[in-house]
Amino acid sequence: MENNFLKAMQFRHACKLFDENKKVSKNDFDFILEAGRLSPSSFGVEHCRFIVVQSGDLKKKLMSACYDQPQVGTASTTVVILGLKEDLKPGSEYVQKMFKRWQMPEEKYNAMLGFYKFMVDQLDITWWSISQCHIAGANMMTSAASIGIDSCPIGGFDMKKVKDVLGVDSNKYTVGLIIPFGYRVNEQRGKIRLPVDELVEYR
Ligand SMILES: Cc1cc2nc3c(=O)[nH]c(=O)nc-3n(C[C@H](O)[C@H](O)[C@H](O)COP(=O)(O)O)c2cc1C
Repeated sequence: MENNFLKAMQFRHACKLFDENKKVSKNDFDFILEAGRLSPSSFGVEHCRFIVVQSGDLKKKLMSACYDQPQVGTASTTVVILGLKEDLKPGSEYVQKMFKRWQMPEEKYNAMLGFYKFMVDQLDITWWSISQCHIAGANMMTSAASIGIDSCPIGGFDMKKVKDVLGVDSNKYTVGLIIPFGYRVNEQRGKIRLPVDELVEYR
């Protein structure tokens, strides 16, 4: 099937090494960040925050916190997606602020806050937040691919070291995903995926 979205999906691969001489332009990076910003989030409370690392020194420190994976240090720009923790607790000022934006009638607003508490009390907030970072990250990677920019999702990192490198407050944030962006050095291998009939069941 010829389709621009699927072409971008084929183009995106877990890029292991970036060309250090090729930089992603500000315009292109703003486009990628916009895809992150417009991503959906549970209850619309926008769990993700984005730290955009461009400094070579900081990228190398991050690379070391990612078990020396070269893509983190050779990328043009490496984004660390943080997930909120403390602010997401039911009853927090942040959650109230996020719900107030919808300008619901008072009764509905209170019912929403109650439902939020009912749902979130059953969750592990840290993992909930991480899952939202993965959604934003996926959209950022596919949007990047649509304009010929490579990326690699990085889940292989030492959480404590990444937080130390960036001075992140552990009570406020978890690290959801790290994504280096740039331009590939090597051609990608073909896509390896299970066939549709092993993945999909119609009922
Ligand atoms: C949440 C997540 C974490 C990942 N962490 C790493 C990582 O730390 N290093 C890496 O090289 N690839 C990482 N990958 C990439 C996968 O290995 C890769 O997507 C998979 O093998 C399929 O290859 P493709 O993306 O090139 O099609 C990660 C992928 C996901 C979704």
